[in-house]
Amino acid sequence: MKRLPILVLLWLAISCSVKQPETISDMTGQPDKKWWKEAIVYQIYPRSFQDSDGNGVGDLEGIISRLDYIKSLGVTAVWLNPIYASPNDDNGYDISDYRAIMPEFGTMQDFDRMLEEMHKRDIKLVMDMVVNHSSDEHAWFKQSRSSRTSPYRDYYHWWPAEKGKPNYRYSLFDEKGDAWKYDSLTNAYYLHYFSQKQPDLNWENPKVRQEVYDIMKFWAEKGVDGFRLDAFQFAAKDTTFPAFPKGFEKNFVQYYAMQGNLHQYLQEMNEEVFSKYDVMSVAEGAGRNFEDAHKLVDEDRNELNMAYAFDGVDIAKREGYSLTHFKTVFSKWDSAFAENGWLSIFLSNHDQARLVNRYGNDAPEFRAPSTKMLNTFILSMRGTPYVYYGDELGMTNIGFDSISQYQDIAAINGYKKVLHEGGDVNAYLKDLKFASRDNGRTPMQWDASQHAGFTNGNPWLPVNQNYKQVNVAAKDKDPNSVLNHFRKMTQVRQENPVLVYGDYKLLLPDHKQVYAYTRTLGDQKMLVLLNFSSEKADIELPAAVKVDDVVINNLSTAEHKSTRFSLSPYQAVIYSLK
Ligand code: GLC
Repeated sequence: MKRLPILVLLWLAISCSVKQPETISDMTGQPDKKWWKEAIVYQIYPRSFQDSDGNGVGDLEGIISRLDYIKSLGVTAVWLNPIYASPNDDNGYDISDYRAIMPEFGTMQDFDRMLEEMHKRDIKLVMDMVVNHSSDEHAWFKQSRSSRTSPYRDYYHWWPAEKGKPNYRYSLFDEKGDAWKYDSLTNAYYLHYFSQKQPDLNWENPKVRQEVYDIMKFWAEKGVDGFRLDAFQFAAKDTTFPAFPKGFEKNFVQYYAMQGNLHQYLQEMNEEVFSKYDVMSVAEGAGRNFEDAHKLVDEDRNELNMAYAFDGVDIAKREGYSLTHFKTVFSKWDSAFAENGWLSIFLSNHDQARLVNRYGNDAPEFRAPSTKMLNTFILSMRGTPYVYYGDELGMTNIGFDSISQYQDIAAINGYKKVLHEGGDVNAYLKDLKFASRDNGRTPMQWDASQHAGFTNGNPWLPVNQNYKQVNVAAKDKDPNSVLNHFRKMTQVRQENPVLVYGDYKLLLPDHKQVYAYTRTLGDQKMLVLLNFSSEKADIELPAAVKVDDVVINNLSTAEHKSTRFSLSPYQAVIYSLK
């Protein structure tokens, strides 16, 4: 073998030991490219996507039959809400067997075929990992509950009743808001941050952690491409359960998120699972502040790839929201992560009502342009975009009036809590009508046939009445539809790395109607202009902004004279810049 000159060896030794820069672009100015940064994630709520066997519930076979459609959207990955065995207290977020498929959704063979068919089409699959808690019907909990001396007792958090009542902990889904449930079988309370049927796992127990890593490996071995960690920011707890200040529940994230050894657990998970497979990882929730979020996602931390912060989805309120506030939120998150770390960009998911109702305008003349405008926003920001099924069509809230119409445990138990506390149930119902999760869970609207082509049976949640107009079959043919605009926009993102990696700069921060920003990567520059209002908007941009071509426009004309631009209601235009 030819011997290498000593200088070369020295250089090799130094360059291998020098840590690679952890910034988004390395020293050559090239972005640090990763498939999960370039991904466009399409979120499927499996219960509501496509039923194949007429039981009124979507299933894996149904998803398989729609993969060509999903591919046609230009998305590159699918995030599936939980599909594991579950008694469905919280629609699959209460898992009774992490290695089995919920029978309503199909079998493991169906799963394997679905994954294979996704991969054939170059679509990656991200699974939901719900391990802050399990179902109370999981074998671990059944054992744990059975006796104080069970080897599974410490898989969960128990408080022996002879020590008195444990300090108050708030539960998000409990009808009394109490996260401790008394169990007479062993005269003890167990902890459930979510519903009574979702007992919190004890992450301080190394056996629990190992069980979870084994489960994740089971799925990674099957070839899944990523994990979304559900509610994981709450997983670590101070197991002495000290008293929290009165009223802490109004701000519970400050007390629940990122406690104790959470980061060590994530580093352990990374070492055990993420580092061994080519999988992406995303946390639900980004902690209490930027520092927490950086700790979760900065590359040198070896924890997760990205997180999704809630600040963006928390902006929309029934009474409306201010665009300047919206811009401030998205701009501050972008700048905090401009050098290190990576985030997700989203405005909707299965825990929110529909995108267009919350951030756009569902009036007949504005539903389409405002949805296109919002999709342009999501697909032109830095961060990995997550798009919720149906938002590519502009599906809208169903808007239930009576509590009996709801299926969601959060809505139903929230209602009971208001009743119990003697609160204003009418105001609560109004809020639900606007913001409930069921609004975003109605069946996918495929065509104008009965139940929108979702099922031959009785859908588990009614189909939105507007399905005759708003459906895939009708919109597929219309070149100007929300659907086809979405497809154009995913293509624009895929063809222009500037939209993935480019620097983001906010223009006109105080403008109340228009969100304007540039994206710059090397000598490629784009200008994004979004009119978030139902009025025409005239703006004047800095002289340095010199537009070239229109890259995409949700309307047929784009008006500007030099640096003066005139935008129609909800117009969204992207220009390339000279
Ligand atoms: C997460 C999920 C939500 C679920 C909750 C409990 O917030 O997104 O749907 O109800 O965790 O698992």
